[in-house]
Amino acid sequence: MKKGVTGIFYAISEQQERSILLRHYSVAPALLRYFSSKGSASSTGETHTPPPSVKPSNSGSAGGDGTAKPVLSHYWGIVTKRPVREDGKAWPWNSFRPTDAYTPDVSIDLKKHHTPLSFVDKFAYWTSYKLGLVLFLQRRYGCRAMMLETVAAVPGMVGGMLLHCRSLRRFEHSGGWIKALLEEAENERMHLMTFMEVVQPKWYERALVFAVQGVFFNAYMVCYIAFPRLAHRIVGYLEEEAIHSYTEYIKEIDKGNIPNTPAPAIAIDYWRLPKDAKIRDVVQVVRADEAHHRDVNHFAADIHLKGKQLREAPAPLGYH
Ligand SMILES: [Fe+2]
Ligand SMILES: [Fe+2]
Repeated sequence: MKKGVTGIFYAISEQQERSILLRHYSVAPALLRYFSSKGSASSTGETHTPPPSVKPSNSGSAGGDGTAKPVLSHYWGIVTKRPVREDGKAWPWNSFRPTDAYTPDVSIDLKKHHTPLSFVDKFAYWTSYKLGLVLFLQRRYGCRAMMLETVAAVPGMVGGMLLHCRSLRRFEHSGGWIKALLEEAENERMHLMTFMEVVQPKWYERALVFAVQGVFFNAYMVCYIAFPRLAHRIVGYLEEEAIHSYTEYIKEIDKGNIPNTPAPAIAIDYWRLPKDAKIRDVVQVVRADEAHHRDVNHFAADIHLKGKQLREAPAPLGYH
């Protein structure tokens, strides 16, 4: 009976003890001599016999040097059928599939605005305005867009996560709202992945994102738990700010202040844009996405305004 480092006594055979020592101590030669001579007639002047090789146990196999080695599980990914493009070429993206790509509805009303009348709405409007001030300080529009997306992708994930937990906790359906909010989060993240191809953040911008995410994620989660209507309304107004910001971006491109460079390849595949699409086309479809997010979040806030739960109204799934 031995005592382990945790203080728990456990049974160990002499052979197991030898195996452990051989594996973990560089003083193996001396120990080998000790074990070899143990119980043998070394004191009588007989020569040392080599130690018996360690037999493989259930949890390991013997290596060439006679030591026990752990069995390594060879488990590298799951092989699935690789998707292809319509022209038969291999699909280059792992993060999304051709079925995730879509053609945005750019005819959506960009000027639609929820007039803040109640205290909650006015507070939400003020909060999104202040948050916008932090994020929209940049005059570099590509960077401004990128900074915005790092925050915009958080609420959908937080809301979806909380609704997911609520569904489990209360044994109830979500009405599709978990999926709708997670779709929004993923869509926002794809905006970020796109703008990353256009502009690279500076070190202080990365630091700002780090700090803002740490505060915003937790603040939004608390807000969503306590005041879900306010949380959705804030996002609705934040999306309105985003639409305005992207409109300014397009104006700058049209004025020639920002070069209308070719669209990143990821954007062409994600939004099913023509091969010769430009960055202006990308900004246009991103702005359309923001308008859809605006509608989804104001709709969610209105459901709460009526004193209902989100699951009582079908979620706008696939609303892009
Ligand atoms: Fe976005
Ligand atoms: Fe958005």
